[in-house]
Amino acid sequence: VQLQVIQNKRLLLARYLCFHRQTFTFNCNSLFCLPLLCTPYLFGINLMHIESRPSRSNKEQYEFFISVDPSCSQALDEAIDSLRTQISGHVHELSRNKKKDTVPWFPNDIQDLDRFANQILSYGSELEADHPGFTDSVYRVRRKEFADIAYNYKHGQPVPRVEYTEEEKATWGTVFKELKSLYPTHACREHNRVFPLLEKYCGYREDNIPQLEDVSRFLQACTGFRLRPVAGLLSSRDFLAGLAFRVFHSTQYIRHGSKPRYTPEPDVCHELLGHVPLFADPGFAQFSQEIGLASLGAPDEYIEKLATVYWFTVEFGLCKQGSEIKAYGAGLLSSFGELQYCLSDKPQLMPFEPEKTCLQKYPITEYQPIYFIAETFEDAKEKVRRFASTIPRPFTVRYNPYTQSVEVLDNTQQLRNLAESINGIKLCEALRKLE
Ligand SMILES: [Fe+2]
Repeated sequence: VQLQVIQNKRLLLARYLCFHRQTFTFNCNSLFCLPLLCTPYLFGINLMHIESRPSRSNKEQYEFFISVDPSCSQALDEAIDSLRTQISGHVHELSRNKKKDTVPWFPNDIQDLDRFANQILSYGSELEADHPGFTDSVYRVRRKEFADIAYNYKHGQPVPRVEYTEEEKATWGTVFKELKSLYPTHACREHNRVFPLLEKYCGYREDNIPQLEDVSRFLQACTGFRLRPVAGLLSSRDFLAGLAFRVFHSTQYIRHGSKPRYTPEPDVCHELLGHVPLFADPGFAQFSQEIGLASLGAPDEYIEKLATVYWFTVEFGLCKQGSEIKAYGAGLLSSFGELQYCLSDKPQLMPFEPEKTCLQKYPITEYQPIYFIAETFEDAKEKVRRFASTIPRPFTVRYNPYTQSVEVLDNTQQLRNLAESINGIKLCEALRKLE
């Protein structure tokens, strides 16, 4: 009965509260505090999302995650004040909008990725009218199966294995065979170095679609990167945040069989042939993580800039290799047509400079008219790092691989810990032994 009351109050809240991607956490000492949220102070604020969970920091407590519209900020301030005074709750604002002194919420440890994994802009089975599978009811049912797998996935679980159909394998086979013929001449050396290992250890074959779980384990052994299934399109902020933890949100379904050379969205061919080989390279893995770390807590306009940097590097990047130019972007390495086009004399080539690259407009449904060339992944990483230092954030972040969490460096104790973790004595000792 009491739970039912809470349900009713949630509905009441839904009617009264108004939403625009702001998130608040209410730590209360029991679920029964929730009715207190429905104070008159909250009138006029729209609620979009609410969920409660047992608190991880105190088992006696519950945490409520609520997304509301910030358009009536004064009412919201009053509501927060009333929550603090009426229920003595710990109210923490996790705003996604840079407003006043608030920093957009970002995940602190790798399990926090579960919190936004299902905040998707569209569910994987919702196809646009011009999608090749739009009128194919069997394909749509199949897409929902994949979306459901991802929707129910939690960090730490193995990615469920999928039995691909003969038709799906045939589609993969066509894409695999065509692209593999181009890689020796068009792909960067890092891609070509890893590809045979994927054939040897992960079942990359013309007649077999590799399983995300096998590939994820391989990547973890190489660079600590892992794959996580995703149920639909994530916001740029959430997608980039995954990279900060060396987590890549990956699709598991395959494009429609009627057009093996075309897909209007990322599919398993794009992820496994385009992205995966590079995530096994230590330099590229670091570069990708650097973009992710830069995005944590960044204002919206910088998220857009970082998403553009991501687009022109991880998706459509070219790089110098000796006297030649090669492709390393996944959008290129998974497109038979664009992989040839990008190295022809048709597109315009520019040096990769994050400050300029981040402002470049781009089409998403046709070949890119402009590509940016990185000197090396190391060079690109340093440039992104410098660019990240210009992002207005009142702190610096550092990834702790032991705890798989992000440390916010905003006080002297944190800096002391950092200095200790570098362990200067060991570093000097190792250098001395090498000399
Ligand atoms: Fe991609």
